[in-house]
Amino acid sequence: MLISLCMTICGCGGGSSTTAALSTPAGVADFTTLDLGALANYANPVLPAYYDATISAQDNTPLDNAVTNKVATLGRVLFYDKRMSINDSISCSSCHQQATGFDDPLQFSVGFSGAAFTTAHAMRLGNVRYYQPGSMFWNKRAASVELQASQPIQHPVEMGYVSSVGGITALIAKMNASSYYPDLFAFAFGDASITELRIQQALAQFERAMISTNSRWDTAYAQVFSATANNRGLGTTLPGFTAQEDRGRQLFVGGPNNGGAGCAACHQPPTFALAANSKSNGLDAGETVVFKAPSLKNVALSKAFMHDGRFATLEEVVEHYNSGIKLGPALDTNRLAPNGVPLRLNLTADDKAALVAFLKTLTDTTLTSDAKFGNPFKK
Ligand code: HEC
Ligand code: HEC
Repeated sequence: MLISLCMTICGCGGGSSTTAALSTPAGVADFTTLDLGALANYANPVLPAYYDATISAQDNTPLDNAVTNKVATLGRVLFYDKRMSINDSISCSSCHQQATGFDDPLQFSVGFSGAAFTTAHAMRLGNVRYYQPGSMFWNKRAASVELQASQPIQHPVEMGYVSSVGGITALIAKMNASSYYPDLFAFAFGDASITELRIQQALAQFERAMISTNSRWDTAYAQVFSATANNRGLGTTLPGFTAQEDRGRQLFVGGPNNGGAGCAACHQPPTFALAANSKSNGLDAGETVVFKAPSLKNVALSKAFMHDGRFATLEEVVEHYNSGIKLGPALDTNRLAPNGVPLRLNLTADDKAALVAFLKTLTDTTLTSDAKFGNPFKK
């Protein structure tokens, strides 16, 4: 009776803008542009046909943290919130910028102090869920996307919640006192309890939602893919590619014993995430660390390449693979010539340029501009 009276008086029965405003708590609406009554779709992305069972087998999503729209939305807030650093100065997004494929244009990233720098180059985050082993960082020291998420927060250079200032416990106290996190955690998890595990889960869900399927390469490959074709159609000439780009594709996919450069054996299409069993790529003689790489999607938007950002251009990267591979215990055997010396590709100048042209076809501006991966904060 009361309800129908109200609806008669206000004329608000089911009006969508009113419903949305009502479902977003005031504190959340005050700080963010989120509409909790109309969440973005993170959980069920429309994937191309070539993201079939073969590719979902590479997905590192754990059974207890499948992506949901509510929790990923919370993850978006956490990812962009400068209050997640000790002096409210930087967020995850400061070093993982959407416009550059969630990379940092700087070789080394500036931490919360504004004066100290990381000692490794930041990593792009697109297709992070398709690195099958799930281990994170260049040297794989974090076992999962979830476990990785606490580390920048507690890092003495990055976000500064080191144990001497109270660690994550101090951060959680700050979040509990905020006017939006208790409501957001209740919305996402069913109760307002803020825990390190929930922070990890939410950030991981947001990151795993960052799937890249809209590069020029994707558009072209969609037209030739067949699950039953030889090598799933990866060896097929791509429609809409220039001759140079298609030559680059041929070199990237083909093995060194077939006149190719063998890149795809480690950087696996269609995700271009690194293969599970890939070892290092011979940057330094005597290297013992087995490094991983982020997906090569959007690599042409990066400004520094490899774990220490030592190369400033893709041309330098290709020249490394052409003539610079060095021996060491961590070197992948696929970078060795049959006589055990480091592989030399002996590419022509045209072929090197073709590989670079191919890498540029992996740029996905949908991922770098999609509002659901952008900053939700008003202030
Ligand atoms: C001050 C800059 C900075 C901040 C802030 C930062 N990162 Fe990073 N991130 C990096 C760097 C540098 C690396 C590579 C570090 C390494 O491997 O030693 C990295 C690596 C990663 C990786 C590994 C990706 C992979 O493929 O292995 C993930 C995931 C990640 N960061 C997520 C986050 C999240 C989530 C936050 C916020 C909680 C965050 N980062 C905050 C600089 C930063
Ligand atoms: C043996 C496996 C392997 C092969 C083969 C391989 N790579 Fe890599 N690639 C890696 C690893 C591992 C890294 C990261 C190395 C590091 O930073 O220590 C990497 C890094 C890169 C990067 C820089 C990524 C970034 O985010 O900074 C590019 C670009 C790249 N590779 C392109 C290629 C191309 C082109 C080829 C073929 C000529 C190729 N790779 C062949 C394993 C491989």
